[in-house]
Amino acid sequence: MTPIDRTHLARLRAREEQRFVDAHPRSAELAAAPGHLLGGVPMAWMTRWPGAFPLVFAEASGAHFRDVDGIEYIDFCLGDTGAMAGHALPAVADALSAQARRGITTMLPSLDAAWVGDELARRFGLPVWQLAMTATDANRFVLRFARHLTGRPKVLVFDWCYHGTVDEAFATLDGDGRVVARPGTIGAPIEPDATTKVVQFNDLAAVEAALAPRDVACVLAEPALTNIGIVLPDPGFHEALREICDRTGTLLVIDETHTLCAGPGGATGEWGLRPDFFVIGKAIGGGMPVAAYGMTAEVGSLLAPAIGGTEVDTSGVGGTLTGNALALAAVRATLSTTLTADDFARMVPLAEAWTDGVQEVIDGVGLAWCVNRLGCRAEYWFCPPPRNGSDAAASIDAELDAYLHLHALNRGILMTPFHNMALMSPAHVAGDVERHTQVFAEAIGELVQPLHVVSRPAEPS
Ligand SMILES: Cc1ncc(COP(=O)(O)O)c(C=O)c1O
Repeated sequence: MTPIDRTHLARLRAREEQRFVDAHPRSAELAAAPGHLLGGVPMAWMTRWPGAFPLVFAEASGAHFRDVDGIEYIDFCLGDTGAMAGHALPAVADALSAQARRGITTMLPSLDAAWVGDELARRFGLPVWQLAMTATDANRFVLRFARHLTGRPKVLVFDWCYHGTVDEAFATLDGDGRVVARPGTIGAPIEPDATTKVVQFNDLAAVEAALAPRDVACVLAEPALTNIGIVLPDPGFHEALREICDRTGTLLVIDETHTLCAGPGGATGEWGLRPDFFVIGKAIGGGMPVAAYGMTAEVGSLLAPAIGGTEVDTSGVGGTLTGNALALAAVRATLSTTLTADDFARMVPLAEAWTDGVQEVIDGVGLAWCVNRLGCRAEYWFCPPPRNGSDAAASIDAELDAYLHLHALNRGILMTPFHNMALMSPAHVAGDVERHTQVFAEAIGELVQPLHVVSRPAEPS
């Protein structure tokens, strides 16, 4: 295995930091201006991009965007999946503008509501649906429903999962196997072990043991972990998970907010999963904030009395702007025109080519890294393929991340922050992927070059 020379890495990173600052005077100026935003940004994570300050974007279209300094980028981040269908889709822009002129929100169903319910049922295979504003919201509502239906207090999640800013899911295992707050959590209402059990992904014996006391309302799971790199399920994992849930009376919630990348019906469609609840957010609105959750007919009929009551507005589920006409118009325009089987038939081969390119580079220099792919999403990680979240978390490398992200950004490529992930939209083309492979090869070549120079036998004099 090729080791990384840390001193050399620090030098390369410093060079890229300087190059970033030099190339973006306008973004720097905007970042330096005194303003009224906490941290200078509308949402705190926007400070976590690589580089001394966040880029300010001017315009985005399809798979590309331009920043305020006039630099063009290939966007493999796509708003961390929010813009997976591509930026500024004409169908979405037209539908939004037409609906905005007709009225945005009334707390009444609009004419698009029934179409949206039908399409979600057709795509994802569950017959009963509700809308939410974000996937976080949808997960919160589903957890509440699951507790209501089972009368059980707890939730089971997989270590290093991410399901949005859901209190129950900000739990991890410490070195002694205790459930503790995820590093970085602020203001947790109670200790997470009061609400949450945590086990490792792919550990069926641990799932079995956690569900045996029958105090868990639901398992909240992504079909493959996507927020700590991509961690794929072992063969048979999902069948066994379903069986253990059935046997212990535990509901199964499958959160497909990111794994929609697997195909037009998500991993549920591709792999034939059978969730009780299904959560989808981000991409379905073409960039508009909107999410949805589906459920089986049985769950739907059990919930009917609860949501039919006169006090449903204080049930803890729903929201004033939820299901508004603009959000419904966005979902209809997106799902009727993009993320179709034909789109995936182009997007998946692009992700395969991206994966092959990265793999060839890391194999070529003998780095023991991996590239995992799920449908049109691919990601490299600084270890051999992990089987669970804690294996993956053990290889987080902030220095390497910062260097590789900045190196790419300085050459016109945006990767997803906090990850090394690339997502393909219907608007990406082979040239975008080839450019990434070329830039990645340059970055890795520079990273390992001095070691090769040092280890080369001396020239005969
Ligand atoms: C699997 C999963 N579920 C839910 C969410 C939350 O989505 P949002 O931030 O739009 O609420 C995310 C966000 O990354 C996610 O990855």
